[in-house]
Amino acid sequence: MTDTAAWDTYSKQNPERRPVNAAGETTWFNWTQYPDHGPGAEILNITPGANVLDLGCGKAGNLAHLATLGAHPVGVDISTAQIEAAEARWPGSKLELHQENATHFLAESEEQFDAVFSVFGAAWFTDPAALLPAVHHRLRPGGVFAFSQRPPVEGCYGCQASYITHSNDEDPLVVKRWDYEPDQWKGLLETHGFTTATARVVPAPPGPKKIGTLLVRAQG
Ligand SMILES: C[S@@+](CC[C@H](N)C(=O)[O-])C[C@H]1O[C@@H](n2cnc3c(N)ncnc32)[C@H](O)[C@@H]1O
Repeated sequence: MTDTAAWDTYSKQNPERRPVNAAGETTWFNWTQYPDHGPGAEILNITPGANVLDLGCGKAGNLAHLATLGAHPVGVDISTAQIEAAEARWPGSKLELHQENATHFLAESEEQFDAVFSVFGAAWFTDPAALLPAVHHRLRPGGVFAFSQRPPVEGCYGCQASYITHSNDEDPLVVKRWDYEPDQWKGLLETHGFTTATARVVPAPPGPKKIGTLLVRAQG
């Protein structure tokens, strides 16, 4: 089972985002696993015309929002099903979408990006030893790299197994993810030439769920 097949399975099990958010908006940016919660696109510090890349864009809800802000939105995702769902969900939004492994895309692209981001996306599911230099190479000096994911379980750092349930009768599909504490992410980013690195956990909204969102940001 390849990562592509595993993520295609994930795609079919996870619906696209709601048509409108709590504020009645048809597009919005969400870094967290909770609806209508946390910071928005301001983290990326983009201006109209900015070239922005989403690593593991999924069904491209965040990219569609950046298009409304005047950005040139580029998305890459390893899953054919996710890319097809994004194309169907956002017709006419002028999203540039690529079905490819994020690290390969960064290595082959000749574009320079003003911002690169990943929301529970390829930045979580790629070895940072490969991804961080590739992002740094394609990010313009001063451009923002930001990503979000679940915080680590205390003591469980580096490569972890992540399970995607296929069906009750079959073994789950497995993909790899990389978990670190905020200070460890800061150190990794600085080692790979990024500056002004910050990493923090955005607390969960009030309610029964307590796990917050790790939000990491740095500049090229
Ligand atoms: C949990 S989903 C998040 C999707 C989207 N960012 C969102 O917020 O809805 C993770 C996404 O990352 C993609 N992905 C995982 N590993 C990848 C890789 N190495 N290169 C590109 N995309 C990848 C998956 O196909 C999937 O669409």
